[in-house]
Amino acid sequence: MAESKVLIGVIGGSGLYHLDNLKFIRSVEVDTPWGKPSSPISISTLPNGTEIAFISRHGAHHTITPTEVNGRANIAALKHLGVQAIVAFSAVGSLREEIAPGHFVIPDQIIDRTKGIRADTFFRGDGVVVHSMFGDPFSNKLNKFVAPRVADILANSGVKVHTGKTVVCMEGPAFSTRAESLMYRQWGGDIINMSVIPEAKLAREAEIDYTLICTATDYDAWRVGEAPVTVEEVVKTLHTNAGNSRAVAAGILEEVALHVASGELDEIKGSMRFACITRAE
Ligand code: ADE
Repeated sequence: MAESKVLIGVIGGSGLYHLDNLKFIRSVEVDTPWGKPSSPISISTLPNGTEIAFISRHGAHHTITPTEVNGRANIAALKHLGVQAIVAFSAVGSLREEIAPGHFVIPDQIIDRTKGIRADTFFRGDGVVVHSMFGDPFSNKLNKFVAPRVADILANSGVKVHTGKTVVCMEGPAFSTRAESLMYRQWGGDIINMSVIPEAKLAREAEIDYTLICTATDYDAWRVGEAPVTVEEVVKTLHTNAGNSRAVAAGILEEVALHVASGELDEIKGSMRFACITRAE
């Protein structure tokens, strides 16, 4: 187990299995009351010495399907290490013409279309009833801090960064039908993935500020006259997107860490204080 506190956690999504510009320090095998996280957690340092904890959401070799990701173990393990802010990455499908494959999106809302089979709370079966506040499912401060910095880093590569968007989270593993994809657009969805729920909910329960940096890989299934998304199409853009995500992580983490350490980006800490509705005896 780690002796020092690691303030920043990074969760890598499809295609993003390691980060650049970091010095590897150690790999930590954490066992939590909810089981083991998706991968050993690698602790690395940024050039200024700040430690970062990195988990591969789908396992180091992409062997864990979205439904089977043990979100509770991932979040609990990061919390145990002292993490106060998570910068998560995710490959997403685009539900909007203007969000082209390769573009980055930092969403601020979620529509949950998972099927209730993922463990999405730390409090189930504990004899307590807990309701977390989830109206703003991402940390607004972290989103606002990260977005312009991501845009700056990508400015010369021509990769556009979208903000203020809504991510639909579906169960998978099959992609959406065309009818579902069209319905999500009518609902106001802008992008779609299979991973933000329960991760964001669990981060909220753990009082960890959470932001999601998404990279579009495809146009899902809503475009008339175009073939619906396939894994082949997703994988084609994953490599480039992962390279850009590593550049983004290398460019923002030092500043994020400094501002988290100073408490400036604190938004979620204390939010669970009045979340338990169970009456004391
Ligand atoms: N991840 C990447 N592309 C996706 C899509 N079209 N639907 C759901 N998850 C995705």
